[in-house]
Amino acid sequence: MGKRRCVVAALAAIMLMMELAALTVAENRRSMLSNGLGMTPPMGWNSWNHFGCNIDEKMIRETADALVSTGLSKLGYEYVNIDDCWAEISRDDKGNLVPKKSTFPSGIKALADYVHKKGLKLGIYSDAGYFTCSRRMPGSLGYEEQDAKTFASWGIDYLKYDNCNNDGSKPTQRYPVMTRALMKAGRPIFFSLCEWGDMHPAEWGAPLGNSWRTTNDISDNWESMISRADQNEIYAEYARPGGWNDPDMLEVGNGGMTKDEYIVHFSLWAISKAPLLLGCDIRNMTRETMDIITNKEVIAVNQDPYGFQAKKVRMEGDQEIWSAPLSGYKIAVVLLNRGPVRYSTTARWDDIGLDPKTVVQARDLWEHKTLKTTFVGNLTATLRPHSCKLYVLKPIA
Ligand SMILES: *[C@@H]1O[C@H](CO)[C@@H](O)[C@H](O)[C@H]1NC(C)=O
Ligand SMILES: *[C@@H]1O[C@H](CO)[C@@H](O)[C@H](O)[C@H]1NC(C)=O
Repeated sequence: MGKRRCVVAALAAIMLMMELAALTVAENRRSMLSNGLGMTPPMGWNSWNHFGCNIDEKMIRETADALVSTGLSKLGYEYVNIDDCWAEISRDDKGNLVPKKSTFPSGIKALADYVHKKGLKLGIYSDAGYFTCSRRMPGSLGYEEQDAKTFASWGIDYLKYDNCNNDGSKPTQRYPVMTRALMKAGRPIFFSLCEWGDMHPAEWGAPLGNSWRTTNDISDNWESMISRADQNEIYAEYARPGGWNDPDMLEVGNGGMTKDEYIVHFSLWAISKAPLLLGCDIRNMTRETMDIITNKEVIAVNQDPYGFQAKKVRMEGDQEIWSAPLSGYKIAVVLLNRGPVRYSTTARWDDIGLDPKTVVQARDLWEHKTLKTTFVGNLTATLRPHSCKLYVLKPIA
């Protein structure tokens, strides 16, 4: 008996040691990108969704100005990210990337200085191929260290790294080269892998980047938006502080969806711990757009320190319940009606990980009110077509 117990104890000790060893390996792998960034999902703006290649330094400066004057920067929107088309098609005779003279005549360093003076951060874009997706500027394949040094010397804070026009090798071969280059460049730079989800980057992205795209590019319509939320949800368990699933940038404010649909868009991105990168013209927003993107309580769900990405916990036809635990024993819940008609939808406690007898207080984050009654066992809401409710539930007994 004593001997068997001893063997069992020894086995348990060995298993514990193996677990610790595995953890250490995981830590070492993570430390390939030990930049300390992205402890919560990044927030800011990116030029692509609204402007495409139609960008210049004046517009970028005006956007930085607007992020501050609208109060968005105070809410956490800090990255000003330049997407494709900022450079000349040819490198200089030393092989350096050259900011496009016609649109960025003052250079990127001057722009970074301007943005930094406002308390914001500057992001830039390159590609793990010979050309970027626009084919209007070079990619960084074969120039990773040189470009990373250039970005660091300019004061860049964020790099979105696309996957177009590459040499046909796997992204798992090309992306780590830039990770290492950034680590050697001497400046913490948030690294956003834009591999479009082809080779399931959630499964290998954490040691390499601070976020990884799980989807193809979003467009400004309901089908595109909701399908990206779906594809991104599959990888929920991979999200964590320092590394996030990325279903692409926000379309809120670009005009292709209804107010209810944009609220669904913002709610699902928030609860999914997605990067909150605005994609509209910050200099010219409607009141409605501002109301959506400045909802502090929804932003707080996104920025919760635990970093648990929401999962779909129930699907019945067009009705879905998405939920994620928050810090402080709270739970964020989205009740979603994807269908074309009004519908009464119920979130059940056993679906969202609460004991059925738990009494909760419910805060409606879009109505900005705590509901008068408490709830036991479930919560029901009637939803307009293509709309949702976002509640934070707080157990009180
Ligand atoms: C501002 O936005 C409105 C639509 O909301 C648009 O009609 C107008 O052209 C925009 N103005 C500028 C200067 O872009
Ligand atoms: C919701 O819970 C109440 C009890 O609090 C129960 O009477 C009702 O049947 C439940 N509804 C659903 C749809 O589960």
